[in-house]
Amino acid sequence: MASTYAFSAGAHGDWRISSIAAYRGAGLAPAEALTIHPWEPGPIDDPTSWRLLGTVSNLRYATRDEVAGLRARQEGLDRRQATHAALIPIKKSAAWWDLAQDDRRAIFEETSQHTAIGMEYLPAIARRLHHSRDLGEPFDFLTWFEFAPADEPAFDRLLARLRATREWDFVEREVDVRLVRTEPV
Ligand code: HEM
Repeated sequence: MASTYAFSAGAHGDWRISSIAAYRGAGLAPAEALTIHPWEPGPIDDPTSWRLLGTVSNLRYATRDEVAGLRARQEGLDRRQATHAALIPIKKSAAWWDLAQDDRRAIFEETSQHTAIGMEYLPAIARRLHHSRDLGEPFDFLTWFEFAPADEPAFDRLLARLRATREWDFVEREVDVRLVRTEPV
């Protein structure tokens, strides 16, 4: 069963926002803190904040071997040492969505090696992918990563490698939000 999460930015929250940087396209409004919670319909409490929605869904591209490799290496969210995080909302271009599924997979992995590159950074980086496109959201994906402070430079290297791939030619909006946990797990 798919679960939809709200990423709500405002004055208070479980994560303090340390920076918001527009990497491509429009950024997001400044905010102090972020809370991630199961989505419930309703108004945004704080009119100065933003709220993004995304659903944890089935895999689209990973093969059986890749899934097995990921499961063998990856760790879950909410690890005690993972006090730092990144929320990176991403929107891909119409040209990407016009491609056939097998052409997208070929760009994603055979050309860009997204999974192969990402695997090198497991288990230090824990992640959760949320799909937003079918919710009519401004972004197609909300990508969420948790890591220990000492692993943030490695995360930055991972980001640089992915952004240099052919897949990223199809990214038309991307914002990099960095966060620090306000309460221990
Ligand atoms: C930490 C290491 C990472 C691993 C192991 C990893 C692995 C994966 C895998 C296996 C998928 C495909 C899921 C599917 O089959 O549907 C995926 C999708 C995706 N990942 Fe990563 N990833 C990593 C890091 C990143 C980073 C740093 C970003 C963003 C800056 C990112 C952005 C995305 C996006 C946007 C998708 C969805 C692509 C699409 O459906 O078009 N990933 N990732």
